[in-house]
Amino acid sequence: MKYRRMPIEKESPEQFGYDNIRCNLTESSVSDMALSTLGLDLSSLVLAYTDHLGKPALRELIAADGKGLSPQDVLVTPSAAAALFIIATTLLEKGDHMVVMHPNYATNIETPLAIGCQIDYLRLSFENGFRFDIDQLAGLVRPETRLISLTTPHNPTGATLSEKDLYAAAALAEARGCYLLVDETYREMNFAGPTPLAAGISPRCISVASMSKSFGLPGIRMGWVITQDTGLQERFLAAKEQIFICNSVVDEEIAFHVLAHKDRFLPPIQAKNRQGFEITRDWMNAQSGFEWVEPVGGVVSFPRIRAGLGVDVDAFYRILNQQYSTFVGPGHWFDMQRSYMRLGYGWPRLEELREGLGNLSLALEQARTAR
Ligand SMILES: Cc1ncc(COP(=O)(O)O)c(C=O)c1O
Repeated sequence: MKYRRMPIEKESPEQFGYDNIRCNLTESSVSDMALSTLGLDLSSLVLAYTDHLGKPALRELIAADGKGLSPQDVLVTPSAAAALFIIATTLLEKGDHMVVMHPNYATNIETPLAIGCQIDYLRLSFENGFRFDIDQLAGLVRPETRLISLTTPHNPTGATLSEKDLYAAAALAEARGCYLLVDETYREMNFAGPTPLAAGISPRCISVASMSKSFGLPGIRMGWVITQDTGLQERFLAAKEQIFICNSVVDEEIAFHVLAHKDRFLPPIQAKNRQGFEITRDWMNAQSGFEWVEPVGGVVSFPRIRAGLGVDVDAFYRILNQQYSTFVGPGHWFDMQRSYMRLGYGWPRLEELREGLGNLSLALEQARTAR
């Protein structure tokens, strides 16, 4: 495996220091939750090894969200990132062919690259509204393709697959005899409501999600893989056992508590995310330096600096970061031009978001004259 550190992780706000940032518009999650707000007493928890598949009651809750899924279909992993790593290293070998969306959350591409896979990219373009196109995907799948990897709602664009798209992609995977991985990490943040769990559609589909992004719990490192393919699940479990054996009991207990009370925890999170989206949309509509494809799900968008304005893009980021202590995720985090940026509206406090958006306009104006 040829590992290399990804720019999105090297330059992440937690590595830079949260306290060094005034307006943090880089994040791809909702606001982080404090343990004290969860109403959970962990004092009697025995810190033993746990069931290797994951806490049974937690798996039951996760499976209950899909059609025809059982707790045995769920493997709880220490994060979606771990789940994606387990899937890639289980299914793919050097030289194997796969198709993956581009741009993307970097790990969805980086691990197959480190394995040495042949990759075709399902390119989402601004001009096309970052829309998923089943014919474009069908044109990239070959007889030897092992894996199709899709994300919905999508990071960094905020685009989504419809239920019809999802069924069409599952049918394509079945017809071509490959697996379809659907990264559903932002599923609860789909503005139109969650699409069905992909793993419930077909044994060829694999679902991945976590507690990080939609529940504001990235610090507990809790995610999962779901598949109805029992042979494949056994191999995923073998991979998990070799790396982790089992999960942290503390993390599992917190995840279980929050999912068991999802009806209480999720609505205020979704309402605040919606407010962040609306503030961002209003700002976007009132200015002319940036353009975007309006997101329809998730917690981020992927705007760009309009062409032809004479903006020095490097100066823009320098001014934004150094003068305004405001950060967004620059395009190079996603292997895209730096005139694109990931703008997260779900994480910052609303005043921080408003100030950060204003700072984007100010930095852009200064970078036009800074040439
Ligand atoms: C689409 C997507 N999948 C998976 C992850 C990993 O999430 P975690 O490992 O925190 O569960 C991320 C993180 O940004 C993501 O955007």
